Amino acid sequence: MTLYHEIATKIQALITAEVYPPGTRLPGVRRLSQQFNVSISTIVQAQRQLEDYGLLSARPRSGYYVCVPPQPPAALPTSLQQDMQPTAVTGQALVLQLAKATSQPDFIQLGAAVPDAALLPLRALQRSMNTSSRHHNLQAAAYAFPPGVSELRSQIARRMLLSGCQVSAQQILITSGCQEALMLALQTVAKPGDTIAVESPTFYGLLQVIEALGMQVLEIPTDPHTGLSIHALELALEQWPVKACVLIPNYSNPLGCLMPVVRKQQLVALAQRHAFTLIEDDVYLGLGFDGHYPPALLGLEQQHLQQASNTPSTPTQRMPQVIYCSSFAKTIAPGLRVGWMVLPPQHYPRAEYLKYVNNLATPTLPQLAVADFLQRGGYERYLQRIRPHYRQLTERFAQAISQYFPPDTRISRPAGGFVLWVELAEPVDTLQLAQQALQHRISIAPGVIFSARQKYQRCIRINCALPWTDSVASGLKKLGHLCKAMSPAESSQP
Ligand SMILES: Cc1ncc(COP(=O)(O)O)c(C=O)c1O
Repeated sequence: MTLYHEIATKIQALITAEVYPPGTRLPGVRRLSQQFNVSISTIVQAQRQLEDYGLLSARPRSGYYVCVPPQPPAALPTSLQQDMQPTAVTGQALVLQLAKATSQPDFIQLGAAVPDAALLPLRALQRSMNTSSRHHNLQAAAYAFPPGVSELRSQIARRMLLSGCQVSAQQILITSGCQEALMLALQTVAKPGDTIAVESPTFYGLLQVIEALGMQVLEIPTDPHTGLSIHALELALEQWPVKACVLIPNYSNPLGCLMPVVRKQQLVALAQRHAFTLIEDDVYLGLGFDGHYPPALLGLEQQHLQQASNTPSTPTQRMPQVIYCSSFAKTIAPGLRVGWMVLPPQHYPRAEYLKYVNNLATPTLPQLAVADFLQRGGYERYLQRIRPHYRQLTERFAQAISQYFPPDTRISRPAGGFVLWVELAEPVDTLQLAQQALQHRISIAPGVIFSARQKYQRCIRINCALPWTDSVASGLKKLGHLCKAMSPAESSQP
């Protein structure tokens, strides 16, 4: 990160903390340069960057002012009250087609939920890669058979304390990303034909895994603010033999919501009562906008079991049901393919064996490099810088969408991560919209791929992890025009 980026992040933090509330004038460049002990030109660059993010606006001969956020925010997307019925997943091959069509560098990448390289800690990662290949050249060239590099597992075990999970390095299995962790978790606990409950809408990669494993998916209504409906899941459990429930309780993809702690506790208790597996996808770990680490289902289950074991009237010994999955794809680099999972003792040996059968091992050098990066402490510093940045970016994107898209467009209000879920008021076919957008070198993720039953035709997911530039702003404007042109009200105009 350059010096002016650093200063911009510091000023941004002061704005977020309302040291400089909306509408106030920022101190002059000379004062700021003394305050931060940097040159005037660094301050000017930092201010320009904050202006690009929509945080500051320049007034001629007066200076920079903190922008007032637009009022009121757009309404939240609706939660579909759907008929719940297990179904086979189909049509997910489309995702690969879209991924290929959009992996070109000159596209405005609003489709995949992947941070732009400019926002990732790549310089620090490079240093850790160099150090690891120098100091561990023999180890780096060898297989790191499951469970994976032990230094990395110890570092991860320490970080998991932040989410309230007491985990030993021996309970952690390193995987090639969170996607592989999800695959292994499902392969371990379920077989083809079994029913798997998921949030609706949910991450399409999960639907692809369920499709590939020949399992059935049961979509559970999900509130854009509080997450998966526990009540609906309870009803589903009475009707269907649900083997596992896979969910993203923290900053879900695509809704960005954070499940409240009480609901998480209810969910853990439900899994205990009905003995089904809870697969927790925590890939946005560390990206909460408020800077806190919400408790993971895994940690809450540990507390639940502890309390149950202290209660003499508990009838039988209870088994842990949570399998935890995460990765560094969203916070260090997706191409490293370093993820991990934590499994209860009854499932660990099978998952470890399946990991070995799938691909023998996750590459060693990326594991050593991530361990080095975590050990140096640079990771937490990076997260502290990037969280407010993603918050500002998602707000900036939402503001532009409200401005350019058709009236009454609904937009999610994520509590973390960096994606927005956008629902159009009119029945626009967003799959067609995605194809039209590709012709303008803009990628988006159409709503249908977030459901096994191709719901959410009028929704799209927008990735906001891109530096705010003129081309991003005009890309959103173009998308807004395309939506307006496709909306029935517009096309029926004479
Ligand atoms: C919710 C969720 N889970 C899993 C993944 C896959 O992560 P990885 O790249 O670590 O395999 C993603 C990536 O987009 C995701 O958004």
